[in-house]
Amino acid sequence: MICRRVFPAMFNSRGRTLFILLLHSVVAALVSAQGSNKTSIWPTLSGKRPLVIARGGFSGLFPDSSNIAYDLALQISVPDVFLWCDVQLTKDRAGICVPDIKLDNATDISLGVYKSRRKDYLVNGAPTRGWFSVDFTFSELATNVFLTQGVYSRTNKFDGNGFQILTVQNLTAIMKPPAGLWLNIQHDAFFAQRNLSMRSFVLSVSRSVTIGYISSPEVGFLRSIMKRFNPSTTKLVFRFLGPDEIEPLTNQTYGALLKNLTFIKTFASGILIPKAYIWPVDASLYLQPHTTVVVDAHKAGLEVFASDFANDVPFSFNYSYDPLSEQLSFIDNGDFSVDGLVTDFPMTSSAAIDCFAHLGKNATAQAKPLVISKNGASGDYPGCTDLAYMKAIEDKVDVLDCPVQLAKDGTPFCLSTINLIDSTTVAQSGYSNLTTSIPEIKAGSGIFAFNMTWIQIQGLTPAIANPYSTFRLFRNPKNKNTGKFLTLSEFLELAKNASSLTGVLISIEHAAYLADQGLSVTDAVINALSKAGYDNQASPKVMIQSTNSSVLMKFKGKKNYECVYKVDENIRDALDSTVMDIKTFAHSVVVGKDSVYPENQAFISSTTDTVSKLQSFKLPVYVETFSNEFVSQAYDFYSDPNVEINTYVMEAKVDGVITDFPQTAARYKRNRCLGLGVKTPSYMSPIPPVALMQAISSSYMPPAEAPNPVLTIEDVREPPLPSVSPRGPSTSPGGGTSAVAPTPPNGQPKLASCFFLTYLAMLLAALFLS
Ligand SMILES: *[C@@H]1O[C@H](CO)[C@@H](O)[C@H](O)[C@H]1NC(C)=O
Ligand SMILES: *[C@@H]1O[C@H](CO)[C@@H](O)[C@H](O)[C@H]1NC(C)=O
Ligand SMILES: *[C@@H]1O[C@H](CO)[C@@H](O)[C@H](O)[C@H]1NC(C)=O
Ligand SMILES: *[C@@H]1O[C@H](CO)[C@@H](O)[C@H](O)[C@H]1NC(C)=O
Ligand SMILES: *[C@@H]1O[C@H](CO)[C@@H](O)[C@H](O)[C@H]1NC(C)=O
Ligand SMILES: *[C@@H]1O[C@H](CO)[C@@H](O)[C@H](O)[C@H]1NC(C)=O
Ligand SMILES: *[C@@H]1O[C@H](CO)[C@@H](O)[C@H](O)[C@H]1NC(C)=O
Ligand SMILES: *[C@@H]1O[C@H](CO)[C@@H](O)[C@H](O)[C@H]1NC(C)=O
Ligand SMILES: *[C@@H]1O[C@H](CO)[C@@H](O)[C@H](O)[C@H]1NC(C)=O
Ligand SMILES: *[C@@H]1O[C@H](CO)[C@@H](O)[C@H](O)[C@H]1NC(C)=O
Ligand SMILES: *[C@@H]1O[C@H](CO)[C@@H](O)[C@H](O)[C@H]1NC(C)=O
Ligand SMILES: *[C@@H]1O[C@H](CO)[C@@H](O)[C@H](O)[C@H]1NC(C)=O
Repeated sequence: MICRRVFPAMFNSRGRTLFILLLHSVVAALVSAQGSNKTSIWPTLSGKRPLVIARGGFSGLFPDSSNIAYDLALQISVPDVFLWCDVQLTKDRAGICVPDIKLDNATDISLGVYKSRRKDYLVNGAPTRGWFSVDFTFSELATNVFLTQGVYSRTNKFDGNGFQILTVQNLTAIMKPPAGLWLNIQHDAFFAQRNLSMRSFVLSVSRSVTIGYISSPEVGFLRSIMKRFNPSTTKLVFRFLGPDEIEPLTNQTYGALLKNLTFIKTFASGILIPKAYIWPVDASLYLQPHTTVVVDAHKAGLEVFASDFANDVPFSFNYSYDPLSEQLSFIDNGDFSVDGLVTDFPMTSSAAIDCFAHLGKNATAQAKPLVISKNGASGDYPGCTDLAYMKAIEDKVDVLDCPVQLAKDGTPFCLSTINLIDSTTVAQSGYSNLTTSIPEIKAGSGIFAFNMTWIQIQGLTPAIANPYSTFRLFRNPKNKNTGKFLTLSEFLELAKNASSLTGVLISIEHAAYLADQGLSVTDAVINALSKAGYDNQASPKVMIQSTNSSVLMKFKGKKNYECVYKVDENIRDALDSTVMDIKTFAHSVVVGKDSVYPENQAFISSTTDTVSKLQSFKLPVYVETFSNEFVSQAYDFYSDPNVEINTYVMEAKVDGVITDFPQTAARYKRNRCLGLGVKTPSYMSPIPPVALMQAISSSYMPPAEAPNPVLTIEDVREPPLPSVSPRGPSTSPGGGTSAVAPTPPNGQPKLASCFFLTYLAMLLAALFLS
């Protein structure tokens, strides 16, 4: 289990929250599936689009089975979402929705007045210790027990809200789910042994409540009710547990029963199977070819529902941490589609089905943000290798980036960091004797690019970045040391060949230090660009990025280059005078995500003026870094990278997203739910920033943090780059770019003439003239 973030647990009870209110006001428009004839494209059993079944409501965020979780699921999913309830029976025969037979799994019962009423029971033959609904009346539970977060990796910040346990009837009365309920009866035998009949319960509740589906892993239970339900209103679904677990009535394993679908068809109209039954993974979490279970079940006339979809658990590496990719492989794989997805995050499933499935390879972009790579597709391959760059191009990145470093011989090449230890396995190589400490560059020691020749660097083994390894989330282990590094010239050649690119972004850091060492990185870049023919119009546009204004000053003569100023601290705004100053050397600005939506303990804590201020001076704003790993996103974004990007694009109106997973951003841009105005479905609406934090009860509220500073002129102004110190003649053994040219004399900073290429002009027109 992943330990995400640890919060202090406190107990407090409070009523309903502001959150739903806010959500209602922001997320109003619900539309059904677009397009009039979509049904024919679904290879489901019925030909209709797959269903979304919200397990315990939006249980990926709020306590499972709480009214807020069910309410959010209804707000933010396809209109015919099914609300799933795990039914447990109380001593007085009430059917309540609690996810586990042990109440202590997802309530605070073990802490409160019933502390002493723990029991030991046999559950399916297994001795089990805990608090059980059979020992309590409903009113005992309703008054003194509250639902809490049962999954340790999810936030417990809503545990103080006093969410009451609901009965099945409560759920229908409060939520009025348009499609009805999905009741899961996990344990019939256990309750029967205590003289409590699930059969009587479902039969009686069906008179007042619309039950769309009843699922159970017990053959005996489904058989006992099959004659009493009309399959056109209530469908019975046989739930498969692990392949080696034993079904109590037949005394067969679920794995064996899967080969006996005609038998299952005698008492059920569908099966519910864990997702690994369809797409198995190997021991290292790579996807194997899909099984034939869906096709086989469809042949037997059975619907297939797949379970266990959650955005915040590790799934197969083949999906690059994008939950949308995973779900699409179940509904849009060219061979079959499951008939429904049982999910803790119904928003993602809804978007997958309605906005992303069957997009086609050539779908056109519906939203404007530039997709700018971060070290190529460095979420999938070691950063700045040929593989990372080719993947980014294949993924339809708009702007390919090269953070340029200089080798000892002056060869410019692309590498994410000046310290080779962070992006190669050099520390384990024979070059570890080159370890030095250079406080001007970084605290601690490193092996630096400028201490090795290009030939030596070329021979190093690339290493994939693992920014979330503390959460035990690793990137593509099979390819963690693949690919080869490129000189800047090779990079420019590669980019020029990719007709889909609109630009290249070359970032330059540590120029002043390198100049002191006799290396001019700015001249090396200018030479490589001109040699590669990037000064003519047909090539991709050139963007030069730096955190140091003195570097951008060097490019002010290059009229058709876009100078990108990267703000390397978190800010909440910029003074007008600062922005005027930035405009003298830059055409656009990069800021971090926290400068747009600051976070406090992974909740968005406020909004800022950063983007609007810069844009009001006609400076486009690009934001970094958008990653797919769920721990990289605030809880507000439902652990879905697409929701995060959508909110920055639609709500904060950023002009570009910088990402190590360009596939996700590029696909987002092309989804068919964009540009629909008031008809935008709720699952493609931006989330209301800060609303989630306001739903936290006071005693669970994280302590307020000091706001980020405002960007001032002192942060921006720098002395001019020093001239390059003389040093011995250097050679260029790579045969790549030749050594550094002499630095032209430094002039005083002057207003750079801005020369925007067509796409940028169009972008600005869309922003300011509309
Ligand atoms: C949907 O499309 C299919 C084939 O393209 C066609 O046969 C069918 O009549 C269409 N149905 C509707 C309701 O338009
Ligand atoms: C509750 O059950 C879920 C699912 O079985 C499990 O992941 C979680 O760790 C359990 N939590 C507690 C507090 O037992
Ligand atoms: C649920 O139903 C019971 C019995 O009808 C009622 O007493 C209780 O107030 C309801 N709970 C909620 C949260 O509406
Ligand atoms: C269940 O009912 C039977 C017969 O009425 C009775 O003998 C038994 O003690 C009851 N068991 C429980 C757990 O209440
Ligand atoms: C299918 O399962 C039923 C019930 O366990 C059993 O009677 C029957 O023999 C099985 N059929 C096959 C082909 O395994
Ligand atoms: C269930 O099957 C196993 C072997 O498959 C057998 O040993 C066991 O006695 C059976 N149990 C029942 C209750 O039939
Ligand atoms: C998953 O990725 C691995 C490694 O890249 C690859 O060998 C395998 O074919 C992929 N599986 C599927 C189903 O695409
Ligand atoms: C997609 O675009 C490519 C290249 O532009 C073209 O060759 C291909 O036929 C298109 N495919 C479809 C399905 O339109
Ligand atoms: C570092 O070690 C390599 C061989 O492993 C050697 O060729 C080189 O001269 C050494 N460099 C220094 C600075 O000691
Ligand atoms: C690395 O390069 C710096 C700057 O040129 C130089 O001062 C230092 O001595 C070099 N270190 C080694 C181990 O070569
Ligand atoms: C670019 O394209 C040309 C012509 O198609 C080809 O010869 C060359 O190898 C390509 N270069 C790269 C770096 O892909
Ligand atoms: C920016 O570059 C100047 C030289 O032009 C240098 O003096 C200054 O320290 C650099 N600033 C930072 C923050 O690296």
